Amino acid sequence: MQTLTQNRCMIIHSLVKKIPVGVLGASGYAGRELCALLANHPGLELAFATANDQRGTTARLGGRPVTFVAPDDARLESAELVFSALPHGASATWVARTRTAGSRVVDLSSDLRPGAASPDLTIDAPYGLTELARGAVQGAEVVANPGCYATAVLLAVLPFVRRGLVASDRQVVINAASGVTGAGNNPKRELLFAEVAGDFRAYGVGNVHRHLLEMRAAVGAAGGEGIDLLFTPHLLPTARGILATIALPLTRPLADPMSVWREEYAGEPFIELADEPPALRDVNHRNVARLFAVAAQDVTQPTLLLFSAIDNLLKGAAGQAMQNANLMLGLDEPMGLPS
Ligand SMILES: NC(=O)c1ccc[n+]([C@@H]2O[C@H](COP(=O)([O-])OP(=O)(O)OC[C@H]3O[C@@H](n4cnc5c(N)ncnc54)[C@H](OP(=O)(O)O)[C@@H]3O)[C@@H](O)[C@H]2O)c1
Repeated sequence: MQTLTQNRCMIIHSLVKKIPVGVLGASGYAGRELCALLANHPGLELAFATANDQRGTTARLGGRPVTFVAPDDARLESAELVFSALPHGASATWVARTRTAGSRVVDLSSDLRPGAASPDLTIDAPYGLTELARGAVQGAEVVANPGCYATAVLLAVLPFVRRGLVASDRQVVINAASGVTGAGNNPKRELLFAEVAGDFRAYGVGNVHRHLLEMRAAVGAAGGEGIDLLFTPHLLPTARGILATIALPLTRPLADPMSVWREEYAGEPFIELADEPPALRDVNHRNVARLFAVAAQDVTQPTLLLFSAIDNLLKGAAGQAMQNANLMLGLDEPMGLPS
């Protein structure tokens, strides 16, 4: 009885006294989303928010003013956990500094992700595809948050890989389109409104996008060593959202393909199984992945068509990072997240 009372007191204490967390790269698209989530989080509060060029400016995020400081002026040790929403290449150094200051880290960049991490890096960071990596995330000091395209693709594909249902003698063909926030808010000529509006095009063609590294690593770790991925990203003339369409070669026909996800994701608050192909309007501004599968007709070998939609800035970035942070800090995983 006493233990129960003590536990209740600890919970009430942790809810009243919020846990301080910091955001590096808070003026970027992902960082702003993190600050907005933190403004409405019942268990966490913003300790500092950094920017590079935008240092010293103030933005209204989640209904609250946030003033960005230079990274060197951030008191890393004041935060129990730090989100790094810095560009890849710049993030790893700050993750190391944050660890030296004694804080935990969720890194949103690709610097620590499997397949992408430099061999010189000695930081051990599980790949935080939350629904499929809870055990590893819970006890971690540092988590590598997955890329946005990789999140959309892997949440759809990995349950089939885990069950040995993907044929390794044919390719998994992935076409995915992202809104322009996927490229960050650093000004680029090709992302000007007049260049993007009313247009639709592929980019990074030739199976070379950097998210392929983490996708291959995750597929291999799930038992799919040797499965070929063929990925072409596209730029959507809209601000946010990713829709991935995936042709998945099967080892045998499946009478009820959605049953694989029903089994894998039973009870998951942030995975939605749809009864028709998902649209971006179903997922934008929400921390969910919405999935649909159908068998391809009139083909000689069994093939599934998978559809996966996410908001690149929430389930593909800040929302998934918050799921991971909540787990690392012993809070309820969905706390502070829009479902
Ligand atoms: N956008 C997405 O959909 C998405 C999804 C998943 C993961 N990610 C990853 O999350 C990270 C942030 O992405 P983003 O789209 O938010 O990028 P972004 O909009 O370009 O923001 C980058 C942030 O980092 C700061 N910054 C840039 N260079 C810096 C440096 N050398 N030192 C310190 N701070 C620096 C920027 O400050 P200033 O604004 O002052 O320049 C800004 O706050 C990236 O690693 C990206 O790959 C992004």
